[in-house]
Amino acid sequence: MAVYNIAIDGPAGAGKSTIAKLAAKKLGFIYVDTGAMYRALALYFIRKGIQAEETEKLAEALKEADVSIRYEAGEQIVLLNGENVNAYIRTEEVGKMTSVTSALAMVREKLLELQRKLATEQSVLMDGRDIGTTVLPDADLKIYLTADAGVRAERRYKELVARGESCDRMQIERDIILRDQQDMSRAVSPLRKAEDAILVDASFLTIDEVTEKILSLFEEAKKQKGK
Ligand code: DC
Repeated sequence: MAVYNIAIDGPAGAGKSTIAKLAAKKLGFIYVDTGAMYRALALYFIRKGIQAEETEKLAEALKEADVSIRYEAGEQIVLLNGENVNAYIRTEEVGKMTSVTSALAMVREKLLELQRKLATEQSVLMDGRDIGTTVLPDADLKIYLTADAGVRAERRYKELVARGESCDRMQIERDIILRDQQDMSRAVSPLRKAEDAILVDASFLTIDEVTEKILSLFEEAKKQKGK
C-alpha cells in the first residue's frame, strides 16, 4: 500500500490540530502532533528547574530526555522517558517554555529523526511549523493554514471563557502576535510557508469547510502524482 504524507503548518490558534485530527481520521492516516513533542521536552526542562536561557544545562538535560509516541484508540500519547505526559503539556507555562526551547537547534535535531521515521512507516498527516519546509520536504500535499490574528484571539478567548477562566481579550491577541513573531523570526526552522504549500486562510471558514478543502486538495494531489 502506498504511503502518503500530508504536512500542515501554520501559526498557533488557526485550528490546525482540530482540522488535522478530523482529516486524518477521514483518511485513515496517523495524526502526528509535533508541537506535543516540543512541549514534552519543555516539560522536562521545567521539571528539572532549568531556565530557558541556561543553554548548557539544557544541553546536558537533553541527553537524558527521551521522547517517543504511541497511539491508543487513535489518540497520540507522548511519552517522556516512558511516562505518558499528555495531561501536563497543555499549560501556559509549558507553552511559554516551548516557544523558547523549540528555537534551539539541538532541541529540533533531537525530534527531527523521530518525526521523519514516523512518516516513512505509515501514511501520516503531520502538523507543526516546519513540516513542509524541513521535516517532510517531499510531502504529497503541503498546507499552510492560517487565520487573522484577531479571529484567532477571539476563538481562544471564547475557549477560555467557556472553561470558566478569566482573561483579557486584548492580552490574548498581543500574546498571539508575539508568539507568531517568535516562531517566524527564529534562526532555525522558522515558521514560513513552503514554496509549494497551498495557503488556506481559515478566518471565515468553519472547521468542516477547511477539513473538506484539505481532503479535496489531497484527492487532486494524488491524481497529479498518479500514486
Ligand atoms: O502547536 P503547538 O502550540 O503545540 O506548538 C507549541 C510550540 O512548539 C510553539 O511555540 C511552536 C513550537 N513548534 C515548533 O517549533 N515546531 C513544530 N514543528 C511544532 C511546534
